[in-house]
Amino acid sequence: MNDIRPVTDDSRPKIYIETYGCQMNVNDSEVILSILQDEGYALTDDMDKADVILANTCSIRDNAEQRIWGRIDQFRLQKKKRDGVIIGIVGCMAERLKDKLLDGHQVDIVAGPDSYRSLPSLIRAVTPDTPQINVLLSHEETYADISPVRMDRNGVSAFISIMRGCNNVCSYCVVPYTRGAERSRDPKTIVREARQLFENGYKEVTLLGQNVDSYLWKDSVNADNDVNFAQLLEMVAKTDPSLRVRFSTSHPKDISDEVIYTMAMYDNICKHIHLPVQSGSSAMLEKMRRKYNREWYLERVHKIRSVIPDCGITTDVIAGFCGETEQDHRDTLSLMEEVVFDSAFMFAYSERPGTLAARKYPDDIPYSVKTERLNEIIALQSRMSLKSNEKEIGKRLRVLVEGPSKKNSDELCGRASNNKMCVFPSCGEKAGDYCEVEVVSVTSATLICRRLG
Ligand code: 5AD
Ligand code: SF4
Repeated sequence: MNDIRPVTDDSRPKIYIETYGCQMNVNDSEVILSILQDEGYALTDDMDKADVILANTCSIRDNAEQRIWGRIDQFRLQKKKRDGVIIGIVGCMAERLKDKLLDGHQVDIVAGPDSYRSLPSLIRAVTPDTPQINVLLSHEETYADISPVRMDRNGVSAFISIMRGCNNVCSYCVVPYTRGAERSRDPKTIVREARQLFENGYKEVTLLGQNVDSYLWKDSVNADNDVNFAQLLEMVAKTDPSLRVRFSTSHPKDISDEVIYTMAMYDNICKHIHLPVQSGSSAMLEKMRRKYNREWYLERVHKIRSVIPDCGITTDVIAGFCGETEQDHRDTLSLMEEVVFDSAFMFAYSERPGTLAARKYPDDIPYSVKTERLNEIIALQSRMSLKSNEKEIGKRLRVLVEGPSKKNSDELCGRASNNKMCVFPSCGEKAGDYCEVEVVSVTSATLICRRLG
């Protein structure tokens, strides 16, 4: 296995990576670094020193892409300052825009999410007149054999990709087109990666997939040895009782009772589920092709809470999807009030070229209405987050220390099992230690705690 920490060797050519978008992209940048480190590169966080500048990009909403176009202009200034600097756009935006990114020779390399192994040869082949592109999607690539080089600074919490791609084709979503078909990674390599992280001092792993509930490893010889997500969770949880296990993202249509019971069975599987609802209106959910309705979603929440009463539940919401009526919007608000999510990522609908929605439904909700609805959703969630946090007052929690709190260096911060951020006085512990605390007061974002024991 290769080194899981960045090498710091000044004589090596330098690579600079900016990462946009989801946790999966963060982990992909670590895979990229591993591949390039094996080729003799070293990471730099100073763009002025880089021989190769990469942006690992996101296409999920138009504003994510617009930001990256702005960054490309900045990267190009480096070429004016220093000869030979190579600029690469990798990830979802590379996959979506393909050779459009090479028009006018804006960048030197375009590489999609399944072609990171070819980055060394692409870099070698670049000349001032010959940009390089590889946007082939694969049905097999999971980078299973590569140990990502961890770029986090605190060495406590790491991501493990358990699958790639998505087969769901929700009508608004570009991900199936940029990341390709779903494929699961060999569970043996996942468990090995978790163990390696634990042996290197990590205390928490987050298993990542677009839809972890559809994880399925098919054994080539004996179907009895197939591994589903609940079984994988259990295998990773058994690495060590002091290694916390998280996962993301769950799909309401697929999250099984078996997963919920497995979570309940192991103390070290964190009691938090990110369960994107997208809308509270069954009509909108149908148009979004989510394959569940409002009642199904509420039943899943009910099941989770009946088995794991303290489970944190967070969500994603889209405001102003095609044809959304005022009543559909009210349905989203009422669902949020009924569930009382701990927190939510909330977005205005952004039409993505090539998706089913872009082809079939006009993006007909005026910008001002989308924004108004989004603001209403955000304001409600802020009240719901406070309400959910208030329920924690008086509870005793076990927190994994992430480091000093941002506001006050005499205090520490870290997350409880339910993923809520806690702040409490320091007794000299460091990142990676566990602390027992009691919640004394709250804001909508933080639990303020006192020390126990
Ligand atoms: N517009 C707005 N939000 C979107 N998401 C995905 N596609 C779009 C889109 N076209 C949101 C969904 C998803 C999250 C990762 O991003 O809420 O769960
Ligand atoms: Fe996109 Fe739906 Fe797949 Fe999530 S499950 S990545 S929203 S298509």
